Amino acid sequence: MSDIILPKFMNIGGGKISSIADILQKINCKYPLIITDKTMVKLNIIEPLEKALTKMQIRYEIFDDTVPEPTAKSIENGVNTIKNGSYDCIIAFGGGSPIDSAKAISVLATKGGLIEDYKFPFINLENAMPIIAIPTTAGTGSEVTKFTIITNEKNDEKMLCVGPAFMPTAAIVDYELTYSVPKRTTADTAVDSLTHAIEAYVSKKSNLFSDTQAISAMQLIAPNIRKAYNNGKDKEAREKLMTGATLAGIAFSNSSVALVHGMSRPIGAFFHVPHGLSNAMLLPTVTEFSIPGAPERYSQCAKAIGIASFKDSIELSNIKLISELKQLNLDLEVPSLAEFGIKKEVFIENIDTMATQALASGSPSNNPLVPNHKELVLLYKKLWN
Ligand SMILES: NC(=O)c1ccc[n+]([C@@H]2O[C@H](COP(=O)([O-])OP(=O)(O)OC[C@H]3O[C@@H](n4cnc5c(N)ncnc54)[C@H](O)[C@@H]3O)[C@@H](O)[C@H]2O)c1
Ligand SMILES: [Fe+2]
Repeated sequence: MSDIILPKFMNIGGGKISSIADILQKINCKYPLIITDKTMVKLNIIEPLEKALTKMQIRYEIFDDTVPEPTAKSIENGVNTIKNGSYDCIIAFGGGSPIDSAKAISVLATKGGLIEDYKFPFINLENAMPIIAIPTTAGTGSEVTKFTIITNEKNDEKMLCVGPAFMPTAAIVDYELTYSVPKRTTADTAVDSLTHAIEAYVSKKSNLFSDTQAISAMQLIAPNIRKAYNNGKDKEAREKLMTGATLAGIAFSNSSVALVHGMSRPIGAFFHVPHGLSNAMLLPTVTEFSIPGAPERYSQCAKAIGIASFKDSIELSNIKLISELKQLNLDLEVPSLAEFGIKKEVFIENIDTMATQALASGSPSNNPLVPNHKELVLLYKKLWN
């Protein structure tokens, strides 16, 4: 089994944001910089965090200058803010983008260099400034993963950076923060977490520990995606999606993601498709390609998702899995690449580079069937059929 890495402290449940002072005390920190985005401040989603800090007379500052799908340039101001201040920790508050920004800022402010120096296959084992991650989407699982993903705008590459240095010291997972997530983002982030669970389970790096988290995550996420999409105030659905997203994060951080993520990052980098949405666009096609590499594993996914019965054969379960993933995209109104506004000829022009970047990220090599460059090109083309 692989080494298991987790945050030191995790508080999970509705209203747990109020435990921030307790967590700060446990990690012996007194002066946090909150790293977030402008939406969190504008929509006052950050209010319960500020209230909890103010109540306990904890001094803090807010840095809200992060962007969705962060770039190397976008984190520079954050690095300078930390270097010019006397903060002893970071509270990363928001979706995966502010959390990933905070991870990169923490490492660069402590260790220096450029984020591209930390790109996979480099494994960052050093200590960085402690982070308390508080996700507001359900979601990337970044609060429990040893990864950050930052785009290099010089070559439009979404760089995967890996290592214990990127693991938050603590996490607060409070589903009440997700009631305000808009419909589209609810769907995209939920499909991202479902993809984490499926890929962790079918990955060549899967192990008994990650399998257990991945199966539980699928059981929690799949039956609740449509419920939360259709009614954002559904408490039970929001809670199950949030818990599932964190479990899926634990699963893939201690196993891996695979081909969907490998192919998704270049689509995000070149065409600015939100991460979960490009996963959704790829999931049925890539799953269909990958099933012959691990038919039994995929059939167990179909059962965990709740669309195949335990009596169904492997073959039937996998037929049901593909049709469910296609139906899910229809129900969640996932646009095609063309509907998203991407021009086919521009996409085709970039396929060769996207396939090269996907392979270089290392994720496709964890897939049950490992495609070569030519097969990746064909898979990208298949998205237009
Ligand atoms: N580190 C990891 O392990 C990991 C894993 C998967 C994805 N990612 C990365 O995470 C990023 C995507 O994160 P994301 O999908 O959470 O989206 P995001 O953080 O980019 O947020 C999407 C939008 O939703 C808004 N939002 C977030 N929470 C909200 C709330 N509670 N109410 C209203 N609006 C809210 C944000 O302001 C933003 O406009 C990508 O850069 C992706 O590459 C990282
Ligand atoms: Fe993801």
